[in-house]
Amino acid sequence: MSQPMQYATVPWTPNSWRQRPAAQLPVYDDLPALAEVEERLGTSPPLVFAGEIRTLRQQLAEVAAGRAFLLQGGDCAESFAEFRDHTITDTFRVLLQMAVILTFAAACPVVKVGRMAGQFAKPRSAPMETRDGVELPSYRGDIVNDLDFTPEARHPDPRRQLRAYAQSAATLNLLRALAQGGFADLHRVQQWNLDFLQASPQSARYHDLANRISETLGFMRACGLDAVTDPQVRQVQFYTSHEALLLGYEQALTRRDPATGDWCDGSAHLLWIGERTRQLNGAHVEFLRGVANPIGLKLGPTADPDTVLRLLDALNPDDQPGRLTLISRMGADKIEVALPPLIRAVQREGRHVVWSCDPMHGNTQEASTGYKTRPFTRILDEVRRFFVIHRAEGSIPGGMHFELTGQDVTECLGGAQAITEQGLADRYHTRCDPRLNASQSLELAFLIAETLKDYRQAMLEDRHDG
Ligand code: PEP
Ligand code: CO
Repeated sequence: MSQPMQYATVPWTPNSWRQRPAAQLPVYDDLPALAEVEERLGTSPPLVFAGEIRTLRQQLAEVAAGRAFLLQGGDCAESFAEFRDHTITDTFRVLLQMAVILTFAAACPVVKVGRMAGQFAKPRSAPMETRDGVELPSYRGDIVNDLDFTPEARHPDPRRQLRAYAQSAATLNLLRALAQGGFADLHRVQQWNLDFLQASPQSARYHDLANRISETLGFMRACGLDAVTDPQVRQVQFYTSHEALLLGYEQALTRRDPATGDWCDGSAHLLWIGERTRQLNGAHVEFLRGVANPIGLKLGPTADPDTVLRLLDALNPDDQPGRLTLISRMGADKIEVALPPLIRAVQREGRHVVWSCDPMHGNTQEASTGYKTRPFTRILDEVRRFFVIHRAEGSIPGGMHFELTGQDVTECLGGAQAITEQGLADRYHTRCDPRLNASQSLELAFLIAETLKDYRQAMLEDRHDG
């Protein structure tokens, strides 16, 4: 597809995206039902608020400046069937553990963002799926249709949006309680560990780190520093995010902030544009350029520097730090060729972005047993190369984007548990892409913490020398 070189500016409204070509949207046939659903969502309370969106933006500006690190993670796709309090709590807990590992080991504040409470819509490589000669619409996430391979299940039903909204609200309610109601208190750092991890090497390492944190808190208390009552120690700020794919749903939850006049998408704090929907003059870029939320932009190995700069012009014309996070998802074998030209283009134009690494989506492969999987070693390779490249280019590796779960699943190969191709079948539960399990997530966090610490040390030394 040939694209015009410039973004074609027209006045933005919450529905101006409807004039643009839209990739990956379901075709609904029950239009009265769709209109009713969008009207109901349009009068329902937003899930997040303008002040929170502004705070996240400020924190991401700190990330862009190298003074904090972004950790974003959660399910590939949330599902109606797996809506349980323990799945939410366990994923939250793993993210907290990863964040504390990074904060402590690398002495760097961590901005925590879940792929949770709204991550329901999925882009697909093909609109139809064929099995044994039967062709049906592809599964597009529980907000659109159901995974079962029957005509009824695969039929897009707009009413599912109301269920996704209700589930997101309940999930976010629990996340807010966990973040602010005592669970995330740093004094409880020992208790975040999951029971099934107790025997693992990661667990021993985590306990060791947790002991050091507890000692530090005890020492501070003895010195009269009252960390016990400091909200920074008692609570965490936790944000939500998802791919802004189903634009009718996103539009319906978009409200004007009376204080500033800004339009805010109330479905999540941060929204990202996927690799398959980042067409410069397409509907997704049009919608997201007009909302004040921080925006993520996925960049795969075919992204060229010129297109990326035009997207920056469209999505962040004023170059506000914290507004845009570029999430590279190149694959371990392509990142060295594909990423440096993008970094150089952004530097040449003096633009301020957060660079984040998604080491999941470029490293997917099919196991001999037929499962879609990702080798832990390739994930790790992409992460390491991301840091090396940013160091060489003199830019800032700002964050990580993972598909992970707090459950003990067997979806990605390898790690300390040495999950094999045969082992994948044991607990392969994902509805879409393979996720890191809790043990693999902690293992990765320790490895990233070391790399981040080295990187920050080296940057300090570079500054001294220079
Ligand atoms: C995803 O994050 O689940 C996804 C589909 O990613 P991408 O757009 O990078 O392929
Ligand atoms: Co995915």
